[in-house]
Amino acid sequence: MFERGTVMVNAAILGFGTVGSGVAEVLRENAEGIARAVGGGIKVKYILDLRDFPESPFGDLVIHDFDLILCDPEVTLVVETIGGARAAYDYTKRCLAAGKSVVTSNKELVAAHGQELLELAGEKGVSYLFEASVGGGIPIIRPMLSSLAGNRIDEVFGILNGTTNFILTGMIEKGRSFEDMLSEAQNLGYAELDPSADVEGYDAARKICILAGLAFGKGVRPEDVSTRGIGGVTLRDVQYAGEFGFRIKLLGRAYALPEGRAAVYVGPHLIPERSPIAGVDGVMNAIVVHGNAVGECMFYGPGAGKLPTASAVVADMMDAVRDAAAPRNAHWEAAGDGYLVDARDIDTGWYIRTSESLSALRAALGVGKIRALREHSGELAILTENFTQRELSAALGDLNIGSMFMVLG
Ligand code: HSE
Repeated sequence: MFERGTVMVNAAILGFGTVGSGVAEVLRENAEGIARAVGGGIKVKYILDLRDFPESPFGDLVIHDFDLILCDPEVTLVVETIGGARAAYDYTKRCLAAGKSVVTSNKELVAAHGQELLELAGEKGVSYLFEASVGGGIPIIRPMLSSLAGNRIDEVFGILNGTTNFILTGMIEKGRSFEDMLSEAQNLGYAELDPSADVEGYDAARKICILAGLAFGKGVRPEDVSTRGIGGVTLRDVQYAGEFGFRIKLLGRAYALPEGRAAVYVGPHLIPERSPIAGVDGVMNAIVVHGNAVGECMFYGPGAGKLPTASAVVADMMDAVRDAAAPRNAHWEAAGDGYLVDARDIDTGWYIRTSESLSALRAALGVGKIRALREHSGELAILTENFTQRELSAALGDLNIGSMFMVLG
């Protein structure tokens, strides 16, 4: 348990990668303001990593033995920035069980084991906080738990992955190649260690599961969420979308259905250019929350990167210290079977690009089902009226389809 006043809280950082090193920097750079706000100070006592960092100003804090942290009663606050759900899971459980608060940016771990870790934190009377796990530096978890707590939230969706938004923006605005943009995102510290988690949508899936848990109180597992990444988005699609007055963005989306069920999925969407989220470019993320009292709120900011993510981690560290006597943890319970609707049954408008003829498309979809149409060099792009994916796939049969994305709004 921390003591308030002028006491120095001893913290440990597990994992000295992009985010972990950013946390050490922010704590040092902003030490005075942090100390004032928490009524004491936060001192990094240990940094756990497999590597040594002789060139780093924090190099002398680096240790390789986790038990030193676990068994040190002075360490009451642990930052987990290892990533993944193996060592991070084991260390987090052991720290919480030992009565230490844990703060993390690890969306994979929170999405996979958040419910169990939150329950353990509750039993031990400590904090388990994860503001940095969604939207990088954007405040979204605490606002959903506190500022919007008086609402029944019926929808949350957004651009949840900085790397893919950075890649799409570079392709659209500058005509740069996918590979070129991905390599720049990696150099800037935006991408995951395995960037296929970004590109294939798994990172966004983990984040929308966390948001769905907060919004609806039911844990959703990423493996149960229909997930498509940006791999299938071509420059032709981007151009056609523009001609229709839309931008293409990778969205994670969760909405409640009247019968107590929910739809949760990730995929590229055409978004109307007039919608504020369509203008969210580069590494920026935006999350739209719809509450029955507040209406629609959009949270916008840097979705990845060392210091923005560290900013959210440090704020959680400060909350853990300030709320030591009464931790304010999130809570969700396991969703029963049948809670999620099958994404193939979501009723929505579609964008389709195809080399088939207009008459073949009209025959397949039926009269009056094509809302808009563009044709260039023997290729067609259309926007359809609403269909479920199941209906659309059945109607299109074995027609040759180049791209098919949902249309928002
Ligand atoms: N790879 C993630 C992204 C990092 O690009 O959004 C932040 O979670």
